[in-house]
Formats: sequence, structure tokens, C-alpha cells
Amino acid sequence: MATALITGSARGIGAAIALRLASDGYNIALNDISEAMFENNDIMDKIKALGVECEKFICDVSNYEQVEATVKAVKERFKTIDVLVNNAGITRDGLLARMSEEQYDTVIAVNQKSVFNMSKFVGNIMMRQKSGRIINLASVAGLYGNPGQMNYSATKAAIIGMTKTVAKELGSRGITCNAVAPGFIKTPMTDKLTDAQRDAMLAQIAMKRYGEVEEIAGVVSFLASKDASYVTGQVIEISGGLSM
Ligand code: NAI
Repeated sequence: MATALITGSARGIGAAIALRLASDGYNIALNDISEAMFENNDIMDKIKALGVECEKFICDVSNYEQVEATVKAVKERFKTIDVLVNNAGITRDGLLARMSEEQYDTVIAVNQKSVFNMSKFVGNIMMRQKSGRIINLASVAGLYGNPGQMNYSATKAAIIGMTKTVAKELGSRGITCNAVAPGFIKTPMTDKLTDAQRDAMLAQIAMKRYGEVEEIAGVVSFLASKDASYVTGQVIEISGGLSM
């Protein structure tokens, strides 16, 4: 049975992706920053109820050594890693004039360096397998920029460059690498926005509604599927028509 590793999957978009890939038949390696993220949380039970195996691997994806050890542990537990979804991400918003160095550096480490860490160690396994799918969570902020998010949009634009580079480096080994760029999706991350910020977003969306986490998970499922076997280095915007 094939295995999918999804970072930051205790809640939000990551949890929805894990659930969807479990229903597609993958064994699931969950990851999050702490055990606490899995307390009062039934994601593991929901996945196991689908008849696949599921294990959680606690690690800070921005930490190179922790990621190396975690990827080794996932490989030992499940034997193969067939799909990697680099989903873990944070925001530390603030206008440029007031953004601290700490706000900038933290977001770069968690959102961007994590993609290097994970892609390197999982990529090495996939190269030996001569197959694999890597799917990265970018954002419309990386495509168009967003006031108050210089740090975040930098990471999401970087992820698009990283996606294309990995696609070019690993394509000959049967590995695809693509990105999805969600728009405004209802999750704990976006719950933090003010009403005014929310209304401003809605005004720009052709479909006049926010996205659901399952609508991201569906596209990730497609990119992991046989149907997407010749799709690589692409960025699929999932934003209800934010910009066309
Ligand atoms: P969320 O905050 O609900 O979930 C993110 C998860 O990542 C949390 O469980 C968190 O504990 C985990 N995480 C954070 N730092 C970590 C670390 N260092 N190591 C391991 N796990 C860590 O966020 P959401 O909304 O589900 O976002 C998921 C991804 O989708 C992120 O990359 C985000 O940037 C991206 N995205 C979200 C959008 C939205 O509207 N919610 C829009 C565009 C992109």
C-alpha cells in the first residue's frame, strides 16, 4: 500500500488533505509541531476508520535534523513514501515598516526552509524508488503579493520557484512536483483576519464565497493520482477566481 506524508496535518487544510488521501487508499503519516496539536482531535480515528494505517510523527519541519530523523522514521514504519505534501505553514503578519526581524525569519524558516528540508530527505527516498509525488502549498499571496505579508508572500513565491526546480531535477526519476495556490480558505489561520479584511477579500472573488478545505484536498488528490502522471512543475490556483 502506498504512503502519503502530510506536514502540519493536525488541523486545517493539512488534516483535510490527509483525510482525502486516506479515502484514496493511502496509508497516512501525519505530522505536526507538538503532541498538543493532536489533543481533542479525532483526525487519526477518522483516518483509521477508512481502513488504512495512520501514524503521527511530531517534528518541527523548519529543523533540518528533526526532519532527517522523521523522514527516516516514516520510511522505517511504512517502507515507502509515495506522496509528500508540504503543507505546514504559519503567518506573522505586519506592515513592512513595523515587521520585526524575528517575524520575518520565523516565517521564512517554517514555510520555506521546511520545503527544502522535506523535499531533500523525501526526494532522496523517491529517487531510489524511481517514483513519487511532491505537492507544495503555495498561496495567492506568492503570486500577487498581499499587504502585511512581506514575509509570508516571500515564502510562497519561493515555494513556486522551488517546485519548478524540484520538478526539473527529479522529473527523469519519475517524480512529479507541483504546487497549489489557495486563495481565501476557511481555517484557523484565516479566522484570525478582521471582518474588514475578510470583506475586502470577498469583493475580489469571482465566486463570492470562501473556499472549503475539501476543495484544496480534491486538487491535491488529483495531483497525487495516476491522472496527473504527466503534470509537473505547475501551480494550480484554487481561489474561486481571485484573479484571471
Ligand atoms: P493552519 O494554521 O490551520 O494549519 C497549519 C498546521 O501546520 C497547524 O496544525 C500547525 O501546528 C502546523 N505547523 C506550524 N508550524 C509547524 C512546524 N514548524 N512544524 C510542523 N507543523 C507546523 O493553516 P491552514 O490554513 O490549514 O494552512 C495550511 C497551508 O495552506 C499553509 O502552508 C498555508 O500557508 C497554506 N494556505 C492557506 C490558506 C488559507 O486561506 N487558509 C490560503 C493559502 C495558503
